[in-house]
Amino acid sequence: MAGGGLSVAAAGGVEFEAKITPIVIISCIMAATGGLMFGYDVGVSGGVTSMPDFLKKFFPVVYKKTEEGDLGSNYCKYDNQGLQLFTSSLYLAGLTSTFFASYTTRRLGRRMTMLIAGVFFLFGVGFNAGAQDLAMLIVGRILLGFGVGFANQAVPVFLSEIAPTRIRGGLNILFQLNVTIGILFANLVNYGTAKIHGWGWRLSLGLAGIPALLLTVGALLVVDTPNSLIERGKLEEGKAVLRRIRGIDNVEPEYLELVEASRLAKEVKHPFRNLLQRKNRPQLIIAVSLQFFQQFTGINAIMFYAPVLFNTLGFKNDASLYSAVITGAVNVLATIVAIYVVDKLGRRFLLLQAGVQMFLSQIVIAIILGFKVTDTSENLSSGIGILVVVMICTYVAAFAWSWGPLGWLIPSETFPLETRSAGQSVTVCINLVFTFLIAQAFLSMLCHFKYGIFFFFSGWVFIMSFFVWFLVPETKNIPIEEMTERVWKKHWLWKRFMDDDEYIQDDLPKKNGFEEKL
Ligand code: BGC
Repeated sequence: MAGGGLSVAAAGGVEFEAKITPIVIISCIMAATGGLMFGYDVGVSGGVTSMPDFLKKFFPVVYKKTEEGDLGSNYCKYDNQGLQLFTSSLYLAGLTSTFFASYTTRRLGRRMTMLIAGVFFLFGVGFNAGAQDLAMLIVGRILLGFGVGFANQAVPVFLSEIAPTRIRGGLNILFQLNVTIGILFANLVNYGTAKIHGWGWRLSLGLAGIPALLLTVGALLVVDTPNSLIERGKLEEGKAVLRRIRGIDNVEPEYLELVEASRLAKEVKHPFRNLLQRKNRPQLIIAVSLQFFQQFTGINAIMFYAPVLFNTLGFKNDASLYSAVITGAVNVLATIVAIYVVDKLGRRFLLLQAGVQMFLSQIVIAIILGFKVTDTSENLSSGIGILVVVMICTYVAAFAWSWGPLGWLIPSETFPLETRSAGQSVTVCINLVFTFLIAQAFLSMLCHFKYGIFFFFSGWVFIMSFFVWFLVPETKNIPIEEMTERVWKKHWLWKRFMDDDEYIQDDLPKKNGFEEKL
């Protein structure tokens, strides 16, 4: 889910025989639509809020400021709580619904939860595209948020359970890649629809119906995972599905593992309480901090508000939307880079390298804006404008091959089996909490901090790089079940949390089937 790349990690251990069957391919398409939907929602709001027709209808006060030259300050044109609520309400709703979604994922199954998500998305799109007033618009965003909460919980779990072990890690970043493609798709749509006067914004919001419909139809077509069926007592059906998805007859060994995993999962009565135990603290601290820091890189200031930001800098409407398309494309390409290098260069190298790159580009942006965009100055010259766009792209690229995917990947591969699912829910929640905060606060922060907003985020990038340097261990190429011995017990600080004799990770099954216990 990513949001982001929200995959529950592959469990390590023995690999069972499995072919890549059509059903597995369909599930990859599911991942695409879940990720696309999330990304589309992230990317669409900024473009829409920079469209004059949309502002005129829903935010006449903001419209007046942007159109009539009533510029108290360039930086404050868009400082409006309602406008920010339009973006942020989705994340607030998503956050609330993750708690229900973890219940339905377990009790009703992954497939049903995806179907619920699809239906929320469809209604949300309907309300948004047909909105007559602000209330309808916000209700639509809230419904979409529910969709995000349900989809981001169920789709990654579904994927991690249905895919053969050897492609699970790749699927994790693939989910993130689809989020970035969704953002780019939204940017492109906005660029096109901005030219349609009167109802272009409706088309932008309405086209989210495509991934929503795909997800809904997809959920109707696929089978539920064997893990989920077994967990809900449908043993024979679970075995039959396992045969179909693996494409082989002898699924007995994997089936027995799943049954055993499900039995043990039911014995863990308080996964969330487990998560708070001392021995699980390092993973929890890492997961929570990575998500917090991921949002404080300031990425969503760009993803949500790029067109608005470019407008603030004096770009014309068209140039703003065009520039957002460029940053969106860089985001996709750099995520592909991450897929290739993450297991070669390692997580720490990418996070630290990107830290330097993000820090420097943010400083340069702040300095240019500090000199060039005063409260009431006119447009940036085109040379300076291009330089700002190049710097923003440099920054986005660094994020996309580091904090973007790794904020999700590292938590998903470090939690031991007994806390993995609870850990994953917490990861999603923390992500949505801070995504909401940034969405709600950025335009006001821009108004008050002005160009200093980029110094603010660069300060955080500085701090998080130190955090990585000292506290984030390298997990490249380490099987999940060996994390404790080879990673945590070797770390200068975290090893102190690992001396508990009763560390029970190794007593638990080393297969999937356990993740669903929340
Ligand atoms: C983050 C999102 C962000 C996206 C940008 C994800 O990893 O969680 O908040 O919008 O990356 O590509």
